[in-house]
Formats: sequence, structure tokens, C-alpha cells
Amino acid sequence: PINKKVDSLIKIMTLREKIGQMNQYNGFWDVTGPVPNEGDAEEKYEHLKNGLVGSMLSVRGTKAVKAVQKIAVEESRLGIPLIIGFDVIHGYKTLSPIPLAEAASWDLEAIEKSAQVAAAEASAAGINWTFAPMVDISRDPRWGRVMEGAGEDPFLGSKIATARVNGFQGDDLSKPNTIAACAKHFAAYGFSEAGKEYNTVDIGSSTLHNMALPPFKAAVDANVKTFMNAFNEYNGVPATGNKYLLRDILKKKWDFKGFVISDWASIKELVVWGYAQDNKDAAKMAAIAGSDMDMESHIYVHELEQLVKDGVIEESIIDDAVRRILTVKFELGLFDDPYRYCDETREKEVVNSPKHLDAVLDIAKKSIVLLKNENNLLPLKKEGQNIALIGALANEKNSPLGSWRIASKDNTGVSVLEGMQEYKGNDLVYKKGTDVTVGPTQFVNEIEINTADKSEFKDAINAAKAADVVVMVLGEHGFQSGEARSRTDINLPGVQQELLEEVYKVNKNIVLVLNNGRPLTINWADEHIPAIVEAWQLGTQAGHAIAQVLYGDYNPSGKLPMTFPRNIGQIPIYYNYKNTGRPASDKNNPSLVFWSHYSDVENTPLYPFGHGLSYTTFKYENLALNKAIFNSDEDINISVEVSNTGKVTGKEVVQLYIRDLVASVTRPVKELKGFELIKLAPGETKTVNFVLNKETLGFYSNEGNFIIEPGTFQIFVGGSSYTILDTRFELK
Ligand code: IFM
Repeated sequence: PINKKVDSLIKIMTLREKIGQMNQYNGFWDVTGPVPNEGDAEEKYEHLKNGLVGSMLSVRGTKAVKAVQKIAVEESRLGIPLIIGFDVIHGYKTLSPIPLAEAASWDLEAIEKSAQVAAAEASAAGINWTFAPMVDISRDPRWGRVMEGAGEDPFLGSKIATARVNGFQGDDLSKPNTIAACAKHFAAYGFSEAGKEYNTVDIGSSTLHNMALPPFKAAVDANVKTFMNAFNEYNGVPATGNKYLLRDILKKKWDFKGFVISDWASIKELVVWGYAQDNKDAAKMAAIAGSDMDMESHIYVHELEQLVKDGVIEESIIDDAVRRILTVKFELGLFDDPYRYCDETREKEVVNSPKHLDAVLDIAKKSIVLLKNENNLLPLKKEGQNIALIGALANEKNSPLGSWRIASKDNTGVSVLEGMQEYKGNDLVYKKGTDVTVGPTQFVNEIEINTADKSEFKDAINAAKAADVVVMVLGEHGFQSGEARSRTDINLPGVQQELLEEVYKVNKNIVLVLNNGRPLTINWADEHIPAIVEAWQLGTQAGHAIAQVLYGDYNPSGKLPMTFPRNIGQIPIYYNYKNTGRPASDKNNPSLVFWSHYSDVENTPLYPFGHGLSYTTFKYENLALNKAIFNSDEDINISVEVSNTGKVTGKEVVQLYIRDLVASVTRPVKELKGFELIKLAPGETKTVNFVLNKETLGFYSNEGNFIIEPGTFQIFVGGSSYTILDTRFELK
């Protein structure tokens, strides 16, 4: 068994070699060039040869991985193979939609499949560990990293966390096409104050336990192999040095057996936070707290040995970390064959294979959300309709790839223009209207979309005048969201709003296709534009997916995983808010002042969580329960009938919410507790069944204990969090 092998290996390792396993370096040298002989790279190279590196990140491609692995295996004393990590966030080279978009599919099978494709390509290119899924819940679209998560809800987020972990890791980690996953960022990173990247987090324990932690717990239950620290603090203690989070909750309470990697240099940053005196102190705090591997701080490798020798840290802490790391390496099969992910023939066959292109097209279509469709302007007619396509993003092959796609080549996405040309050929009139200027990579902050230059407006307006329908592709460039891309203004960037209004003056038949990595504030568009399609950044096949939806070859079924605010002042806004002591009573009565609201904008969002239309319509009726009073250990069986009342086949995400009316800790006015994606032909009716039980009716106390309390529960069912039917039951 693996634990015996790990134990015998640990027995023969020196303290220094053990600490080496806890050290991870970023790829530092071009394997086709000369061996580094100065500075940082030279030291890294020496460490690698001497068994002082346990993992490398961002080395990719079979050739490069083989080269670094060879040094670790053939030159170090014990020849322990490296685990090779990489940010495989929504694909390796063939890209799926950004994770927030995929979450909008509410299609767990498709999401799992998408992670499988990513794992297949990455593992064929030498990688055996991804820093995904990001399972941070966030209610703040100003935070650029919402693009990388599953949105605002812990129930949906937990299901998606499970699907992604299963997709990456498969049923057997030792298979060559599966890779270890990493639940990140532990914990509460999505609650950074004011949506500002790397900012402090100040949430209470109820929000921590009930909102932030459940997707992480779900990842542990799905047997995720690794966790990554967050950059934020919790209760004044930076996550990397947070013993309460790492040891007490993750490793003790949840019995997590894998290992924890720091985020990039986050051990070093304990000093910058003002939490550790110096690097030595930082190493001590992080190791004691339970951070097992140091990503690029270079601190463990320099400081831990002396700390153990001085008796400041017990060697058992080091042994525990190494045991966890070696176990994952054994499970991956790296000790059987360190080069098992380095087969060049497989790399050529698998990466960018046609099969993968089909798979990412499928999930891209499923991720699109129809936000509005007045007078059935959509779908477009395949014949006899003059279309003007407008917007710089419509001709973009880079932006649809989204952020976090380090391995994929620039400009490899299908643009909307290309997608629509499949239907219209050269009949399609395209005018950009504005420009996009883009910096070369994800790491350079140089994107300017549609700045002040309006010289192209005229051509766009003329094209719009002559068209029956105008399709405008507007929004954010792929690199305008993502890590360190927080924004205080989430309107359409640059002069795009002006362009939209100018075009509207000459042609009101506008289909607005949004490309974005976060909810945007599009109040004006919602008031004026008849059809709005949320098309996010959909990856390699974006343009094909969008065109198929616009022309009705695919009936959209996505639902928002995050609330769209009316304006920035409403943020944070989310569907599972608390009732307060002064909720809305009679909001139409202007003399009522002292209730929880703003004076200038109504409390409701622009589009609620769970919202999304179809080219058909659905009717909900006959919500029923098997009883009215239940014991706490009984299942509550719920059924509802859903019918397709329109003219085409469509899919609907049937959503179940609960409200625990009175509890020892106040509960949200609505909480998602079940959903089912169904497909209905015109005129067809299906009965959808849900089961509620202890797990779904309980909640976490402020001490973090899961409890279930008797009382009255309301349940709501519908096609969004603005539900249609409701009833209630008693729990004894
Ligand atoms: O995985 C990422 C993390 O999410 C943010 N900091 C850098 C890591 C490695 O690239």
C-alpha cells in the first residue's frame, strides 16, 4: 500500500531532502538553452539537482517536463520525481468557456466533461496537477476573478466544485489522462473588500461557514488532492498562516489527506502583511498553520531546516507535510514511471484534437444565457434578413479565449464574425465601430477597449441604417477580467455605450451580444434593446456557439450564476440576502421611509440569480409535498409539473429554493437546495421530483457546527430565484 511506501521513503530522507519536497519553483530556464549559471536561476538549478525541489510550476510540453524531471530523477540522491503544476483553468490549449460561463450551464455532466478535456490535454503535455478549480464564492462583480469561479451560490458552487474535481481527477488518479486537482483559494478570497484584488476580507463566521466554505468541503468530499491558500486574511490572520482554517477546519475537522500549497509568494507576504517579523518567522507560521508546500517564496528551503534544528518547529510537522506530498506523487503513478506524462506522440494526438473542439463547442453553447428577447427578435432568420454586425469584439479571435489560458496560442478563438459567416457568408456586413488595443499577455495590463476614438462610428451607423437587424457584440476584452483586474466601473468599457446609443437612434432592432467575464451594469440596454444575449468569453469555439444560438440551431438554456446589479452602488447584491428587521413592506407608498432600501434605486437586481430565457416558454404548476409535517430524519419529497408551452423544444433548469423561517442564526430569504435540467418538446409536461433532507435543511452555527432546527420551512420552485410557486411544511 502507498502509505507503507511513503513511510519507508521518509525514513531514508534527510531533513533537508524532506524540506526540499515542500519547495516549489516556477519554471526558470529554457531547456533548449544553456544551463543557467547565475542568480536566482542558478540556485534553482542547484536545488533541483540536489533534491531540494518537490515540484515545478509552469513548465509545460513533454520536452520541457521530461528535461526537468530527468534532473530530479537522475541527478538527485533519491531520485524523487517532481509533481508538475500548471494553471489549467478552462482548458490547456483547446479552451472551454471561462468557469463563470460554464457555471451558467448548470449542466454538471457538461462541466465534468470540460474538466476531463482539460485534464486529457494537460496530462498529454507533461502536466499532472492543475491549480483548479477555483471554488471561491463571490458576490462582487468588481472583483476580476469572478470569471474563474462558479458565481455567488454555495449550493451550485458545491455541485460544480464536485463536477470539476471529478472531471480532472477521474476515477483513478494513476491513469495517464487524469491530473490532481486543487481547490482554491482557501478561504474567503471572493469576499475581498470592495472587490479590490488581494484586499482584506472581513466576514463573520456565519458567512464563512455557510457561504464561503461549503464548496471547499464539497471538494474534500470529492477527494480533491490539493488545496491552495488564499491571498487574503481572515479575522486578521493571513490565510497562509491561518491555523484555524488549515489545521483546525481543513485537516482536522474535514480530515483532508492531501496537501496545501501556498499561493505565489504568499508565505513571504506574511511579513508584508505585518503578521511575521521576517522570513524565518513567516516560514514558522506557515508550516505550523499547515501550509505544506511553498510556491515561489523560497523561504521553506532556506529557513525550515534551522527552525527544526533550533527546536522551534517539530520535525513531525515536516514529516506530515512530506507524507501528504509523497502520497499524491505515488497516487499519480510518478514513482512507477516519472515520464508517464511525457509521451510526445500522445501530446501530438491529444492536444487540439477535433474531438476536443467538439466538446468545447458543446459546453460553449450550453453556457449562453438569453437575458431578454422582446417580440421574439431572436432567433434570427436564416433567409431574407439583412444583418449588420457591429463592435470591435465581434472580430476578435483573442478576447473570446478569456483570461487564464497561458498555454493556448493567441488569436485561436473563433470570432463571432467567423461564426456568423458560416450562416451568411459575405452577405454579412461587418463594421467595427470602435477599436480594441490589447497588451501581449495576461501579465501585462495594457488593454484598452474602445477608447475615445469615435472615427469609426459613422460607418457602423450607416450599416445599421441599411440593416433589418443589427447584432452588436460589446463588453469586456478577455483580459479585462481575471486576477488583478478589479474594476470600480462595470459599465460597458470605453465608448461602447455611446456607440450602442448612436446605433439605436437609427435602428431599434438590436441584438446585443455581451462578451464579459463578470456581470456588467447594462441598465440602459435593458430598457431599450429588445434582445440581449449573455455570451461571456466562451473559449476556442466561441463564435460558432454564439452563431448557432443566434440562428436558433441551439435553443439557449443557460441561467445566471451571479446577480446582475442595476448599478454599482447596489454591490454586493445577491439573491440569498437576509430579511433584516425592516424589509420592504409597501414599497409603492412613498411616505414609508424607515425600511431597508436605497432612496434612488429599487432593491431588486437587473437580472436575478438563476435567470435565463429560452426560445420557448415553460409553465410551472402543481407543486406538491408528500406530507405537511416531517420528522427531522425523514426525506421530504417534492414534485412539480413543468410544461413546454411554446413552439420549439427547449431545456429548462428547474430550481428549488427553501427558507427556514425562524432559526437560532437568521437564515437567508431564499437558498437554492436543488435543481434539475430537463428537456421538453412542445406541449410536453414532465414531473420533476426533489428530495430535501437533513443535509439540505440544516446550516452551520456560528461555531461552525452543522445543525438542523425544527420549525416552518417555505419552499419555492421556478425557473429563476424569482420563483413562481411556493408552499410550506413543518419540521418536528
Ligand atoms: O494558481 C495561481 C493562483 O490562483 C494565483 N496566483 C498564482 C498561482 C499560480 O499561477
